[in-house]
Amino acid sequence: MRKAASALDYRELARRRLPPFLFEYIDGGSYAEATLRRNVADLEQIALRQRVLNDVSVTDVSTEIFGHAYKLPVGLAPVGLAGMNARRGEVQAARAAEAAGIPFCLSTVSACPLDEVARAVTKPFWFQLYMIRDREFMKDLLHKAKAAGCSALVFTVDMPVPGSRYRDYHSGLAGAPGIMGAMRRVWQGATHPHWAWDVGIHGRPHQLGNVAPVLGKNTGLEDFFAWMRNNFDPTVSWKDLEFIRDIWDGPVIIKGILDKEDALAAAEIGADGIVVSNHGGRQLDGVPSTAHALPPIAEAVGDRMKVLVDGGVRSGLDVVRMLALGADFVLLGRMWVYALSAAGEKGVAHVLQLIEAEMRVAMALTGVTKVADFNESQLVRD
Ligand code: FNR
Repeated sequence: MRKAASALDYRELARRRLPPFLFEYIDGGSYAEATLRRNVADLEQIALRQRVLNDVSVTDVSTEIFGHAYKLPVGLAPVGLAGMNARRGEVQAARAAEAAGIPFCLSTVSACPLDEVARAVTKPFWFQLYMIRDREFMKDLLHKAKAAGCSALVFTVDMPVPGSRYRDYHSGLAGAPGIMGAMRRVWQGATHPHWAWDVGIHGRPHQLGNVAPVLGKNTGLEDFFAWMRNNFDPTVSWKDLEFIRDIWDGPVIIKGILDKEDALAAAEIGADGIVVSNHGGRQLDGVPSTAHALPPIAEAVGDRMKVLVDGGVRSGLDVVRMLALGADFVLLGRMWVYALSAAGEKGVAHVLQLIEAEMRVAMALTGVTKVADFNESQLVRD
């Protein structure tokens, strides 16, 4: 395969290009990876009703959410350390998202810091926050996100403790001899400018994203991972939303909801939206797929807040399936990171074009001409 014809083709291109420990980090899920597989398989099984003779010459794929108009009902999900897979990777992805007219969400644990991404784009992007033990650091991060002009805060709540990913042990990313050994093996011989050489090795200036200030100077990726392990706060609870609301006055989206009761609690507490998510099958293995969890949640929540979803979306058709299942907006996780890894900004831009083209075909063949018209009536119910 020389050229990607579908978004999923970038997975194979990324596999060929990336050192194994980076590919496995993106590709893998937790434990036996049952949930990771379910996310994809359950979505694939959703059958749509084929409808004909509806004049589908014009299909409108644009939407509006949290006060902003977007060209697609699609955004780039927060992915930690995505910037390791291409030089200044998050900047490249944010640029591609902006050009496509969709939101990019920067992870707390990105390789590029907030201000760097802000300088690279002209429109607001979103910021994802984890609950960090050090509240002063969190405050500082929220102020930086404000200063960077971020238009929405995605508060991820499904990682009070990290799930174990066996592939990271097998690849050498996790556990002895640790990340630095693996990094050095790969990068010592690397000569291609695609690689993110400047993330903290070879004595180059250290750019460890948003956590650089707490790590101090002269630190490497080992310290970065140790910081992640030690600073995520397992005491996180509903009352912490108040702490965030005190500092952040923009929309707050709670990411990592998989249960109807939690969705209703999020609505009750005044969240502007939720992301129905199981962290791409990287946390509690065995939980239901998001395609399975979404419909009852969307129904229970109604119009009280926006319902976003991610997990297993591999094509524009999958986006359409999620919309029919009740989502207002769909996030892409691995899909953009594979493309970034294989072909940088151009790769991400291409994936977004492919998604849009596939969405338009799926809309035409289901007889739906605008995003707001999606609902369960497009689903085949046996
Ligand atoms: C993630 N995800 C994630 N979520 C988050 O809120 N903050 C983060 O830093 C990360 N980091 C991260 C790293 C990697 C390598 C992956 C694959 C995922 C979860 C992500 O936002 C999203 O929920 C899933 O990726 C969605 O599933 P798909 O689209 O990858 O199947």
